[in-house]
Amino acid sequence: MSILIIFYSRTGTTKKVANLISENLNCDSEEILDTKNRLGFFGWLKSGKDAMMKKLTILEKIDKNPGFYDLVVIGTPIWASNISTPIRTYIVENKEKFKKVSFFCTEGGSGGKKCFERMTKLCDKDPVATLEINSKDIKKETYLEKVKEFTNELKK
Ligand SMILES: Cc1cc2nc3c(=O)[nH]c(=O)nc-3n(C[C@H](O)[C@H](O)[C@H](O)COP(=O)(O)O)c2cc1C
Repeated sequence: MSILIIFYSRTGTTKKVANLISENLNCDSEEILDTKNRLGFFGWLKSGKDAMMKKLTILEKIDKNPGFYDLVVIGTPIWASNISTPIRTYIVENKEKFKKVSFFCTEGGSGGKKCFERMTKLCDKDPVATLEINSKDIKKETYLEKVKEFTNELKK
């Protein structure tokens, strides 16, 4: 089965998890880049507002066609209990090409479950599996075991 990992990461946490997932699955991966600068305090403020208002953005050019893969694994940071704006945009622009989907998120403490419900609705597809990683998992390195379980689920 061919698998593509798609993710957005503002400060590197989702990227760290995405890299481990693609390493475990030995599959293709692509980082989504936003044309909007979201760094710093004002970037944080703008991002929270954009996510709450379900806004879309303009993404940098994407290389990989999700239509060429059996499964697309989509990773987002949680923003205001919601899907990050770049990943919302990616889903809206590409969902017709998805065959099967799976989701993962990173968060400070909560919001993942609600976000997965929203992603399911937006993709119009139930995920094969989901993975929610919070800051404690990162700090205590319990994310390593959780990623292993998730990737084992995807290999089935
Ligand atoms: C604008 C904004 C809103 C956030 N809202 C939430 C939230 O509602 N719940 C939560 O647990 N974490 C929230 N966070 C924290 C991030 O989800 C968390 O730090 C995540 O791991 C960051 O991933 P990244 O480093 O890949 O960007 C928010 C972060 C930002 C920038």
